[in-house]
Amino acid sequence: MSAQETALTKCLDNILTRRKQSGLPLLAIDGPFVSPTPDFFSNDYLSLSTSPLLRERFLSKALSVPRLFGSTGTRLATGNSEGYRALEERLAHFFQSPDALLCTSGCVANEVFWSTVPQPGDVLIFDQLVHSSIREGVRLSHIPKDKQYKFRHNSVTAFKQCLEDALKKYHAQIVQGSGTVFVAIESVYSMDGDFSPLEDIVRTVEELVPKGHAHICVDEAHSSGIFGPDGRGYVALLGLKGRIHTMMHTLGKAWGHRGAVLLTSPTVHKYLVNYAKAFGYTTAMAHMDVHVINSCLDIISGPKGQELRNKLSHIVQYAQTHLGNALRPFPAQIITLTPADLDRAAAQRSAELKLYSPVIPLLSPHAVELSHYLIDCGYNASAVTYPVVKVSRVRVIVHAGNTQAEVDRFVEKVVEWATTKNQTLNQEGKLVGRPSLITIMPRIAQTMILEYSPSAYANVECNLAISPLLFPDPMVCKKLPTYRDRLTYLENHEYGQPRYNYGGILIRRFTPITCCHVGQPPDRDGASEYCDLREICSAH
Ligand SMILES: Cc1ncc(COP(=O)(O)O)c(C=O)c1O
Repeated sequence: MSAQETALTKCLDNILTRRKQSGLPLLAIDGPFVSPTPDFFSNDYLSLSTSPLLRERFLSKALSVPRLFGSTGTRLATGNSEGYRALEERLAHFFQSPDALLCTSGCVANEVFWSTVPQPGDVLIFDQLVHSSIREGVRLSHIPKDKQYKFRHNSVTAFKQCLEDALKKYHAQIVQGSGTVFVAIESVYSMDGDFSPLEDIVRTVEELVPKGHAHICVDEAHSSGIFGPDGRGYVALLGLKGRIHTMMHTLGKAWGHRGAVLLTSPTVHKYLVNYAKAFGYTTAMAHMDVHVINSCLDIISGPKGQELRNKLSHIVQYAQTHLGNALRPFPAQIITLTPADLDRAAAQRSAELKLYSPVIPLLSPHAVELSHYLIDCGYNASAVTYPVVKVSRVRVIVHAGNTQAEVDRFVEKVVEWATTKNQTLNQEGKLVGRPSLITIMPRIAQTMILEYSPSAYANVECNLAISPLLFPDPMVCKKLPTYRDRLTYLENHEYGQPRYNYGGILIRRFTPITCCHVGQPPDRDGASEYCDLREICSAH
């Protein structure tokens, strides 16, 4: 055994090999690199990272300040400076928050807050799709597992149910004691670009939780700088200031640099400074970061910022319309913009508020192939696949700096790929003669089936649903409230014909009268249940 080859390297290699064999992608950081083609993929929503104005502002400051590089220590030791505190005060003022704490990144900020602030008697209710840094913070926190409630993404009903359950179970700690109900949500979710029902969640909390016993925390990573007055975010846009207890804004996305700020009360600020290990034990940001962030804020809060937001809104609308029209002829098993589990309430919310999300996911079971095609065309595309998301996609992001001509060219390339893919699959006979399952629920079935290889779907949590549309008699259906009731009825009445090896993947139980999809029920009236595919497979 060489010095490089230890028992540990073997063990790690084995795990990586098993990961690959199971169908999960083996990630690498040897590309894609910044390319000269237009940016349709980064989080640089306002195109500030390449802004000549930002460069000019920063450089003019940089030449006159005494210190630019390393902070040389933690904020509690040699790494502090007046500049940090002044920036925090400026950010607190801009976001109209009582206090602000700078962190080196959004991941760190989430970990700092969640690992430290909640206390042993507290309860947490969180959206199932919150960022993994929030989950990581929670994992390190005092909140035991049985006090963590995960609710179905963006569902106010599911949120309310969790809240009621928690209040009932922990009544003594929360209502009669000193406990707090923490709520973790995002304003805009990064993978689908959908907006959270924040107003309804706040209202529900205020109705059900006794005053002084709730702490709502909103991650504004994908709304900071883009939405709200002067780019102050979604909370500011909805006028919820003062009803949200902590906000986290990242400075590495629309702000075009890096870092993050926690906007919270002076007490939480003080507590974090004293107890948060990921804050207290790390070297503070470099001095230049403080100058860059100040320059970003000059732009974001000024007329140029508004001009960039207007440009962004126009180009996003253009791209959404253009992509939507161009991709409409293709079936979902090639590419679609419409998720099978489209959250109609979220779509309605953004339409009412006239909000256009710059995140446009190109959903495709062949997302990796699509990304390779785009990379060959010079784009910096990468696919997002399971387990990061349940439905794989190339996540397109439109930026203030993109032009209509750039969008046109990009759409052309996507259509070129989809056309070729469609022809290939048709020649292989894979798109013809689909069973009635697909006729009934085309998007749902095809997405599910083509999405997962047999090994890759082993860990998939899915949702089985039976729509009332599939019942011969709607009145009978109404009397069967659960998925199980409906399935039993249909089986007993010989409607169900189990199918096997469908589309190359072992599918059991998915009959013309049942459908399976990942995420939320396809039909909000259809009884459904979450389950693990492994259970279904092993049961048959
Ligand atoms: C919702 C959300 N929160 C936090 C983060 C982490 O931010 P950062 O990249 O600054 O660590 C991200 C990053 O993508 C995010 O999407």
